Amino acid sequence: MKEEILSLVKEMIEKKKNLFIPGQTIVQYSGPTIDHNEYVAIIDTVLDGWFGLGTKASLFESEVAKRLDKNYGVYVNSGSSANLIALETMKEIYLKDPKRNKIITTAASFPTTVNPIIQLGFEPIFVDVELGSYNPNDEQMMDALQDDSVIGIMYAHPLGIPVKNTKKYYDIIKSKNGFLIEDCCDALDSTYENGSLVGKYSDAATLSFYAAHHITTGEGGMVAFSSKKEEIICRSFRDWGRGCWCSGKDVLSDVGACHKRFDDWLCNGIKTDHRYVYERVGYNLKPLELQASMGLEQLKKLDQLTEKRKLNFNTLHTFMKKYETYFILPSAPEETDPSWFSYPITIRDNAPFSRFDIVNFLESHKIQTRNFFAGNLLDHPAYKNFIPNQKYNLDNASIITNKTFMLGVWPGLNEEIYTYVFSVIDDFFKQYSPV
Ligand SMILES: Cc1ncc(COP(=O)(O)O)c(C=O)c1O
Repeated sequence: MKEEILSLVKEMIEKKKNLFIPGQTIVQYSGPTIDHNEYVAIIDTVLDGWFGLGTKASLFESEVAKRLDKNYGVYVNSGSSANLIALETMKEIYLKDPKRNKIITTAASFPTTVNPIIQLGFEPIFVDVELGSYNPNDEQMMDALQDDSVIGIMYAHPLGIPVKNTKKYYDIIKSKNGFLIEDCCDALDSTYENGSLVGKYSDAATLSFYAAHHITTGEGGMVAFSSKKEEIICRSFRDWGRGCWCSGKDVLSDVGACHKRFDDWLCNGIKTDHRYVYERVGYNLKPLELQASMGLEQLKKLDQLTEKRKLNFNTLHTFMKKYETYFILPSAPEETDPSWFSYPITIRDNAPFSRFDIVNFLESHKIQTRNFFAGNLLDHPAYKNFIPNQKYNLDNASIITNKTFMLGVWPGLNEEIYTYVFSVIDDFFKQYSPV
């Protein structure tokens, strides 16, 4: 019966046709790139009747970790959770002196790259970013790194564009016995240092598998580490804070991975089950096994997906160059090769139109646009009066708040769709002097 169900699922999904009608079909800014294989994998896992994390999740963790040049992965329910427990892990290992509690981050960020810094009691030092590459301002970074109360660095590779100087910052912070967390949520498969995968030069690297990202498990995220010790701490934070590190087959074992499951764990002379011994004030941030089964299918497609993102970026970039007098177009720093998350455009001061004018025109022609997340986080109500000692000017981050928007480069877009998008953009510019 199962085979029959799975073959019907395959047949049904294969019959789905995505017909594009210019002006009627919404040009999605992003979306999942999935076919019958993901559906079959999910239903297959559901029909196994095993919902909690198991062997598929373990395999997914180790395969994803490799794509970040790390050894161990901890699968979680979102990229935001990944950032939270990556920092919890670093806090446990590195925070010794409460006065050394500052973390350098960028003002133009996704909120949950920065929120854990505040939530876990660290003090953020915000630096500005460059327009075009959206990389941190190097001068401000180097200045902030002189501060002896800095213990860490935590930033995202913005929209897939690698932060070029990550290795330099990593070497400096390691020499001061601090840590660097790379948020790679938008940058899976991007490279820096002439071909090294992002994730290589850090203590922890994180990913998101929400549908807009390079691979998706619906929702989900990953934290990846080089060391087993860090992985065990992180997994404990994910799993209620428990001390037991059993996973996969060990969960079914009567002696556990530690081989002394029942022991005097609470040091009170009474034998107790290690599975119910809590070493940390933890969370439950677990995803489901069926999501991992989807992720394994997505990984098989990753090379192709990366290639298509780069191709779509180039198609859009070649076209957009004719409007460069009005726009700051995206640019990859030297020695980096982005797997682009999106196509960010910043409107120059001399443009005779506002961001709203062009975004509204595109959206009214069914072409989705998005802001570059928050832009400057400090422009937003939640953060506005919150940071008392902001040292650096954050002018570019605020330009992003008000003047940057993004178009899609996800693999679901093709030449036919881009031809329509280009005709709409050309129509928009007919109102203004010819370029
Ligand atoms: C850079 C970055 N970090 C973190 C996140 C959070 O990921 P999630 O939506 O899976 O919580 C996102 C989400 O898009 C992101 O772009």
